[in-house]
Amino acid sequence: MPDQLDDFVKDLQDRIYDDALRDYGREAFDRWLDPKYMYVMDSADGHGRITGSCGDTMEVFLRFEGGRVREASFMTDGCGPSMICGSLAAELAMGKSPEEIRQIGAGTILDTIGGLPEEDVHCASLAANALQVALHNCDK
Ligand code: FES
Repeated sequence: MPDQLDDFVKDLQDRIYDDALRDYGREAFDRWLDPKYMYVMDSADGHGRITGSCGDTMEVFLRFEGGRVREASFMTDGCGPSMICGSLAAELAMGKSPEEIRQIGAGTILDTIGGLPEEDVHCASLAANALQVALHNCDK
């Protein structure tokens, strides 16, 4: 019986992964499985926290050095696409000046990942807006 259950779970997981890979593409799928920069940063220079209309919360943390982002991270309790978008928001902020960060919007994130299904576009907005709030709240 345990073997049957293991087989069932493995088959289900494979189907979920196949569907996600087809819907989101390889880069987004890999980032969903292993979202880079997903951690709470202690003593960040800037921290943004937003809850979207979907009810999910996105946080972005920034640390500056010499007028540019030296470290960026995110945390979310949201969906898979929110993890993809938060990870990209942090990555896109890395090494950027405040002026350059102001240019990063949902479109930047979507272009970087090659787009998302229409129902997930708001997840990119949540990440981009949290990044802008983190910059706005920056104490440097
Ligand atoms: Fe809420 Fe994706 S559904 S952030």
